[in-house]
Amino acid sequence: MEKERAGRNRTITLSDSERLDLKQSLHTLTDDSTVHDVVDKTFNQDILEAIKYLPKHFVDLLVIDPPYNLSKDFAGFKFKATGDGEYLDYVRSWLPKVLELLKPNGSVYVCCDWKSTSAIYQVLSEYAIIKNRITWQREKGRGAKSNWKNAMEDIWFGVLKDNDYFFDVESVMQKRKVIAPYKVDGKPKDWEETEEGNFRITYPSNFWDDISIPYWSMPENTDHPTQKPEKLIAKLILASCPKEGIVFDPFLGSGTTSVVAKKLGRHFCGTEINEEYALLTVKRLNMADNDKDIQGYCDGVFWERNTLNLQKKTQTLKSKKHRVTESACIPFIDFNKE
Ligand SMILES: C[S@@+](CC[C@H](N)C(=O)[O-])C[C@H]1O[C@@H](n2cnc3c(N)ncnc32)[C@H](O)[C@@H]1O
Repeated sequence: MEKERAGRNRTITLSDSERLDLKQSLHTLTDDSTVHDVVDKTFNQDILEAIKYLPKHFVDLLVIDPPYNLSKDFAGFKFKATGDGEYLDYVRSWLPKVLELLKPNGSVYVCCDWKSTSAIYQVLSEYAIIKNRITWQREKGRGAKSNWKNAMEDIWFGVLKDNDYFFDVESVMQKRKVIAPYKVDGKPKDWEETEEGNFRITYPSNFWDDISIPYWSMPENTDHPTQKPEKLIAKLILASCPKEGIVFDPFLGSGTTSVVAKKLGRHFCGTEINEEYALLTVKRLNMADNDKDIQGYCDGVFWERNTLNLQKKTQTLKSKKHRVTESACIPFIDFNKE
């Protein structure tokens, strides 16, 4: 039965007629494939099955958000928490195979929490050069009576070649409010005075405290229990996938990776075992044809949390010309057209 939702609730849902319609856009692989066959497609399939038929070394960036070592019900697909050893075996069953999809100069990010991080690090470090660990401070999560509330996740960043990988730090700069404006000769030092306040554009660190988990009033929200924020995935894609490059996600969930890749003018491909989530992915991909906005990413920079009104104000002050999102400016190769 459909849940009743409040009027301002913007959660993306599926009707029965949409399910029937969107099903036409889902794919499965049963034979060897080429890049043309798979790019910009959503496969409703177990990654361990699809991987047998996917081409090798065609992907610029892997974004991997696997089931963590927690008991979770992904709309009927139940993942059960196991011992550390079993989880390590589980990671070993797919991660090395998925890494074979990467081009020799490709990059990979793997998300995890404190419980699964050691298994992910162990297996990833056997096959890739670990460049960093990003800590994402999530503002949500249940409090616990007899333990510390979990408020962070890890995102491991790896590359295949230490001296040859894409990294565009200028595309992931942060716009932050200046708390103590410092002036030299009466002029701002490394910050900007604007009608909306004082801001500094800063280089991003590996501690991310500017990203909220999607919630019911956000236009990207779905009922997926572990949906990643578009803003978080946008940082990974902009920094580590060249324009027109290909991003692959083996555990698509509600499709955030593919949707953000599309919004930013990259190609996408991915697998999701659950039909309901694969359908949500396709619905969100269709919505991205008309709406390329990524909440928190505006005018080519990443804004702090809770600055939506400020972002809107800056946008209305600028001409419509400047509001064209980056993805709209990128020449796009359509792999599905000859
Ligand atoms: C942590 S969630 C990913 C959430 C996603 N990043 C998003 O933003 O919605 C993991 C997803 O992997 C899917 N999954 C689990 N095992 C899978 C498998 N063997 N092949 C493909 N998908 C799988 C689950 O159904 C779940 O939706």
